[in-house]
Amino acid sequence: MESAKSKGKVVIIGAGFVGATAAFSLTMSGMASELVLVDVFKEKAMGEAMDLNHGLCFMGQMSISDGHYSSVKDADIIIITAGAARKPGETRLDLAKKNVGIIKDMVPKIMEHYNGGVILVVSNPVDILTYMVQKLSGLPVGKVIGSGTVLDSARFRYQISKHAGVDVKNVHGYIVGEHGDSEVPAWSVTHIAGKRMQDDTSLDKELIFQEVRDAGANIIKYKGATYYGIGVSITRICEAILKDQNSILTVGSVIDGHYGINDVALSVPSIVNKEGLVSLYDVNFSEEDLVALRKSADKIKEVLEQVK
Ligand code: NAD
Ligand code: LAC
Repeated sequence: MESAKSKGKVVIIGAGFVGATAAFSLTMSGMASELVLVDVFKEKAMGEAMDLNHGLCFMGQMSISDGHYSSVKDADIIIITAGAARKPGETRLDLAKKNVGIIKDMVPKIMEHYNGGVILVVSNPVDILTYMVQKLSGLPVGKVIGSGTVLDSARFRYQISKHAGVDVKNVHGYIVGEHGDSEVPAWSVTHIAGKRMQDDTSLDKELIFQEVRDAGANIIKYKGATYYGIGVSITRICEAILKDQNSILTVGSVIDGHYGINDVALSVPSIVNKEGLVSLYDVNFSEEDLVALRKSADKIKEVLEQVK
């Protein structure tokens, strides 16, 4: 399935904890040929680019620099990690108003230089911002994706693997809906070697989900920010794009008319390749999972209505 193409240009807008960690992870992966960091605080982007360049002799040749919006030209992937981060006690949705303002200012600047590529939104609340970027840019739905619940699904797989005592790579699990409090553990389509976790009574499903749903808030409480898990999740999404993999990932996108959900961005299993999100991958969610997914969509919409 993989094509030979595995090198490309990646622009990261926002060189804070998340942007810089994603830059480091991408550099380590050797997948990109060019990486540009852009930040409103220019010296931060400069410093990160310098620091990363100093490790290149141990990692592999590529170009790493700081830049500005004009760097968006010819990018294969434009990653948005700019904006305020969630403070302790603050929900992702509380952040909406602050970061929607930043996005409204940023999208026209990106579009001035955009000539192709996939926009990957990571800043929170990621579902709200994914929706706003898609609408403000006017790009096709599949060209604007959010990191959505890729991180949550990774946390879910990790927690199940710990409880079940098996290699995390053998756990196939999906968190869908909002990247946030209303997210849904899709137990009906989660399995280990074909064994449906929905039917496994040995797992404490409530505890597993609680550990996943509260992970972001807990990490923020312990160390102030989260960046390694999301940094690697961003790299995984970039891999699917740069290597044209047709990977199934729970990225976010604007959904309109699927699973009974209309005009909102959220995450469901989706096929990702060099074009971006090429289609949703239809799965047989149980009625219980579907009801929870639609409720999650309603929660996101409530906020969207207040900020868009
Ligand atoms: P941070 O404060 O360390 O970095 C944000 C950076 O954005 C700063 O360097 C700041 O100067 C820059 N910035 C602000 N406004 C800008 C603008 N208009 N143009 C360019 N740069 C601008 O924050 P962080 O910890 O890196 O988090 C960044 C975002 O990622 C937050 O919204 C956070 O909630 C989100 N996040 C998302 C996930 C996820 O799974 N989606 C996970 C972790 C963090
Ligand atoms: C996370 C961020 C805070 O790690 O969204 O879930």
